[in-house]
Amino acid sequence: MIEFYLNGEKVSTNVADDTPLLWVIRDEFNLTGTKFGCGIAMCGACTVHIDGNAIRSCSYPVSLAKNTKVTTIEGLNNQHPMQKAWVEEQVPQCGYCQSGQIMQAATLLEHNPNPSDEDIVNHMSANLCRCMAYKRIHKAVKRAATDSGVGYFDPAADSQLGA
Ligand code: FES
Ligand code: FES
Repeated sequence: MIEFYLNGEKVSTNVADDTPLLWVIRDEFNLTGTKFGCGIAMCGACTVHIDGNAIRSCSYPVSLAKNTKVTTIEGLNNQHPMQKAWVEEQVPQCGYCQSGQIMQAATLLEHNPNPSDEDIVNHMSANLCRCMAYKRIHKAVKRAATDSGVGYFDPAADSQLGA
């Protein structure tokens, strides 16, 4: 049996050790906000947090999650500064990649509350969006840094990014 904390609640599973965490989250605990994209750790759609770090749950054996704190998009409770900024900037198009984008972005402010444009690009560049919403994603990350009171918002630089 593998025990871990899922969005603050202690849970357990009896699946095989090498079962991807993504399938445990989705199929066993019915948290379907985390998406399957590529299944090979290349797109970021399945991003969740383990002890505050972004990981790709499609390629993460559930056994490695033992005794950790796993947070999914549902665990942010629509209260995270990144989620509020996402709404303000009307980021999603089809929406499929968006929970992974937000989970990836959320870890940036934890480690770097005042990210530069380059910091944002570097942090987000491996999360793919087939709708090409990259400019709005970038703007939302910058907005979150400002609105959370821990970063900056430079309207001049923002306008250079376009809509
Ligand atoms: S589904 Fe996990 S990285 Fe693409
Ligand atoms: S919003 Fe459609 S894949 Fe990103």
